[in-house]
Amino acid sequence: MVVVMAPEATEADIKAVVSLVETAGGDAFVSRGVERTIVGLVGDLQQFGALNLRGMRGVGGVIRISAPYKLVSRENHAERSVVRVGGVPVGPGTMTLIAGPCAVETPDQTLQAAQMAQAAGATLLRGGAFKPRTSPYAFQGLGEAGLRILADVRDETGMPIVTEVVDAADVDLVASYADMLQIGTRNAQNFALLQAAGESGKPVMLKRGMNGTIEEWLMAAEYVAQRGNLDIVLCERGIRTFERATRNTLDISAVPVAQRLSHLPVIVDPSHSGGSRDLVLPLTRAAIAVGADGVIIDVHPHPETALCDGPQALVDGDLRELAKLVRDLPPFVGRALT
Ligand code: E4P
Ligand code: PEP
Repeated sequence: MVVVMAPEATEADIKAVVSLVETAGGDAFVSRGVERTIVGLVGDLQQFGALNLRGMRGVGGVIRISAPYKLVSRENHAERSVVRVGGVPVGPGTMTLIAGPCAVETPDQTLQAAQMAQAAGATLLRGGAFKPRTSPYAFQGLGEAGLRILADVRDETGMPIVTEVVDAADVDLVASYADMLQIGTRNAQNFALLQAAGESGKPVMLKRGMNGTIEEWLMAAEYVAQRGNLDIVLCERGIRTFERATRNTLDISAVPVAQRLSHLPVIVDPSHSGGSRDLVLPLTRAAIAVGADGVIIDVHPHPETALCDGPQALVDGDLRELAKLVRDLPPFVGRALT
């Protein structure tokens, strides 16, 4: 059960709802989104029914939700949500291009990648300072030094930063630099990390686990939401199937399905799904056509020397085509580049 607070509800109204639920032996989780605050109730639903929550001051409505994920469910919020990242909207009506280097390597490489991304129409900069690598011998990222480079490039370009956090212990550090925290496919069910990100006060981009169902992905988002943070963007980045011709299999149908089940924005990562430069533009076209709220794309000034995922990074010529694509295609599906 979810209590939706009216837009004019005060902190005292929210507290009154929480304490009534707790007095009745339940738990109440307050989640604040851009547009509204909701309180998720856990406990004996019949007992909550007797509390007359609907009659309390500041309460806009009380909804029973049948899906196992409550706060992120579309049953709880019929309208699709917009998440703002450093002022940039991600959600219905717009198409957001997030682009940048897979990994932050040097100040020059990051600035060049950001400028290439921006020239193609990107309004948010991606870049990993903490890299989740299959091999412990592979480049693991520059850590805090990489975050400092990202912050400098943000100052230079004005692009808000999206960057990954791989360990709950680093959430405060990464959040002190980032405009949005990314949780990657390998950590899609790292519940301690999801909860810490939920408490960070920063918007979260949650990638789908490579072996995860859509329901598991939404349950992971619920962990973030339950800690008070409804500013979550879901990212489909391909799943592990029997097919080896691509790095992962982009599950394009996951976009409309997740949008039907959840009010959260859904974007696509054509770089990590295809795993190869020549697939990025076709998959971007598919993502826009299917109604994705954005795409996140790897860009590198010199992919042949990249320390991570060079084969999937777009270079100058591709970026001119990308710029045309993200400008021309979204209007056909009722969207504009943010
Ligand atoms: C990149 O962003 C990831 O860290 C990368 O795709 C991990 O893959 P790998 O370590 O198997 O190369
Ligand atoms: C990334 O975007 O840097 C990344 C590691 O992606 P994924 O978690 O989808 O592999």
